[in-house]
Amino acid sequence: MKVRDSGMPPQDYWETLLDVPGILDAFGFGPATGDVAELGCGYGTFTLPLARRIGGTVHAIDIEADMVELTRQRAIDAGLTNVQADLRDVVAGGFGPPAGSCEAALLFNILHAEQPVTLLRAARDVVRPGGFVAVIHWRSDVATPRGPALEIRPRPEQIALWAATTGLQAERPAFLLPPWHFGLKLHRLQA
Ligand SMILES: C[S@@+](CC[C@H](N)C(=O)[O-])C[C@H]1O[C@@H](n2cnc3c(N)ncnc32)[C@H](O)[C@@H]1O
Repeated sequence: MKVRDSGMPPQDYWETLLDVPGILDAFGFGPATGDVAELGCGYGTFTLPLARRIGGTVHAIDIEADMVELTRQRAIDAGLTNVQADLRDVVAGGFGPPAGSCEAALLFNILHAEQPVTLLRAARDVVRPGGFVAVIHWRSDVATPRGPALEIRPRPEQIALWAATTGLQAERPAFLLPPWHFGLKLHRLQA
């Protein structure tokens, strides 16, 4: 099932709204990072910069075939060989890579979903114990140029509570990702 309110404006505009390098820096992604699974790669806005900086593969997943194809093609055009773009419904079937095989999972701009705990659980399952789930979302405390309706926009405290029910623990309080996002780094507890 496609997550509610998960469409995007045109790519050129969308990609002006996010400080992609700053966001990836905030989570500590670098050459030592292994495989990463990304729910809802969209235009590949994060996929390509992430693939350029990590040692592992980015498993980029989307429910929309045109998003998967675009991300795959952008990776090929950029000469990146560590992007695996797959068409998949994560709500229905999880991320796809074997359980515990990834170092991290991305839930970027998606936890306004009807079933956020299902997505958090799927993300927890795909990362190894000691790995982490990186969450970003639009802030609710300032006016933002995009983002889902305020009634369904999750706040960081709510996400931390949902996450705790799945065995994911916030490393530190939520942090701001200017201009319009917040981030949460959730660790999968050791078994
Ligand atoms: C709001 S966009 C965010 C894209 C990207 N994460 C970003 O921040 O640039 C959400 C994406 O999730 C995808 N999506 C929605 N429901 C999904 C599902 N059940 N499984 C996989 N992808 C899904 C949408 O097609 C869309 O590309």
